[in-house]
Amino acid sequence: MIKRILAGGVALAVLGLGGFGLYAWHPAFDPITPPMADSFAPEQIEQGRVLAAAGYCATCHTAAGGAPFAGNYPMKTDFGTIYSTNITPDAETGIGNWSEAAFERAMREGVDRSGAHLLPAFPFDHFTKMSDADIAALYAYIMTSVEPVKAEHKANELPFPLNQRILQAGWKMLFFKSGRFEPVADKSEAWNRGAYLVEGVTHCGACHTPRNALGAEKTDQPYAGAAIDDWIAPPLTAANPSGVPWSAAEFYQYLKTGTTIYHGSAAGPMAPVVHAGLKELPDSDLAAIGTYLGDIVGAGGADPAANPAVAQSLAAGVPQADYRKDEGERLYATACAACHYNSQQITEGRPDLGINSATRLADPTNLIHVMLNGISADQGMAGVVMPGFGTALNDQQIAAIAAYLRASRTPEAPWADLETKVATIRALGAMAH
Ligand code: HEC
Ligand code: HEC
Ligand code: HEC
Repeated sequence: MIKRILAGGVALAVLGLGGFGLYAWHPAFDPITPPMADSFAPEQIEQGRVLAAAGYCATCHTAAGGAPFAGNYPMKTDFGTIYSTNITPDAETGIGNWSEAAFERAMREGVDRSGAHLLPAFPFDHFTKMSDADIAALYAYIMTSVEPVKAEHKANELPFPLNQRILQAGWKMLFFKSGRFEPVADKSEAWNRGAYLVEGVTHCGACHTPRNALGAEKTDQPYAGAAIDDWIAPPLTAANPSGVPWSAAEFYQYLKTGTTIYHGSAAGPMAPVVHAGLKELPDSDLAAIGTYLGDIVGAGGADPAANPAVAQSLAAGVPQADYRKDEGERLYATACAACHYNSQQITEGRPDLGINSATRLADPTNLIHVMLNGISADQGMAGVVMPGFGTALNDQQIAAIAAYLRASRTPEAPWADLETKVATIRALGAMAH
């Protein structure tokens, strides 16, 4: 899940604006006794469970090795570390004494029970779009089905004045628009359902939309692609560089299974989105997300098999381990081609590297991550593994394979500084272990 995000709230200038105090101030809600499990219908609780998965609440609110939803998952920002809060129904350290109104205000306005502003590392800018029924269902689920856990929130490591929550009011004034999702009249029901899910609970834009210097999504460039957690979240628009354009059917397949024959695998931060988040949604919802995003890409439903990029990549053929050839080709032939063989057809579960966004993005980061660390069984296609080559190949060798694939399989310009990038990404892996 998102670990690195810019902290907003440096918007000191707006403090001078008239009416700011009024805008910034919110009353506290009185504490309540945690509601009884039988105050909610079972169907409502079940709906909340599905939505909690689709909103990745547990992914962000669970520390490594910690109890689910008990918080203290660290999110690094350029200014310091923010720890997610305990949202179990523990009355003392969690949200057990929050009324439904207090919970709804947090989701819609980014304000906690005491009236303090919450940081936008919590994606309330998306959750604000959810329906009343869906927010009520989330509340019902958390209050009745999440185990209450006593866990004190670690203090955020933000320097003064960024640790002053009142400043968040300035950030919100500049960048935050609260309000429920509004359906678009001339679009289909499926399109509107997809838009509701993408813009709201599943908050795809939190990773796929670029952010400004204060950490707010650039609303004029929706889904245009962004760097996130030291990966690249590719554009989900016509600017996506994959050889085969993303259609509604391809989106559906990828989000349902973590892989498609023409677009490869969901790895890195995208893996939990698919395998922990979206997997609880009914097929009709995944299809609706496909309808919405397919329309944004606008490619229509042309047969991918007839796509010239596919023919071109296949024509690159099986490389020979011939020592007179380029080093990248030689290494590719020995380390990769056994599985990524570029024979006569595109193979299920073995991404064709000529049409994949990993080889076509302007930034080689995703390709390098996969080469160094592989794809584990819980990422990409469920149960299928690609081995990592971080120990077998050095930086220069990984860079040579990347350069070879880029030159032989894609029409894109060569990548600069490949070896340095490999070293940087390798160092990130070493830090994480
Ligand atoms: C991308 C990470 C992320 C995701 C996803 C996320 N949260 Fe959070 N949430 C946070 C962070 C970080 C905070 C604390 C913000 C702060 O300290 O101002 C927070 C705060 C909250 C709060 C305020 C709690 C308090 O004690 O003040 C609530 C309620 C909450 N989240 C509910 C949810 C629910 C429900 C979901 C899923 C639908 C969810 N969150 C998904 C990161 C996340
Ligand atoms: C936590 C950050 C994050 C969130 C949230 C997220 N994505 Fe991603 N997404 C990524 C990253 C990083 C990649 C690249 C990973 C890879 O190529 O394996 C990616 C890859 C993708 C791809 C493949 C693109 C390509 O050209 O290969 C699609 C499609 C996609 N995401 C759709 C979505 C949708 C739809 C949502 C919301 C339901 C979503 N993502 C939410 C980070 C995220
Ligand atoms: C043992 C077989 C095997 C070898 C060897 C292998 N791969 Fe893979 N590779 C796979 C499989 C299987 C997947 C899909 C994994 C999944 O979906 O879970 C994959 C996925 C990928 C992806 C992901 C594409 C995407 O959509 O994000 C890239 C890139 C990749 N491989 C590159 C390479 C390179 C470069 C080499 C050589 C250094 C290599 N692979 C060696 C089996 C292999």
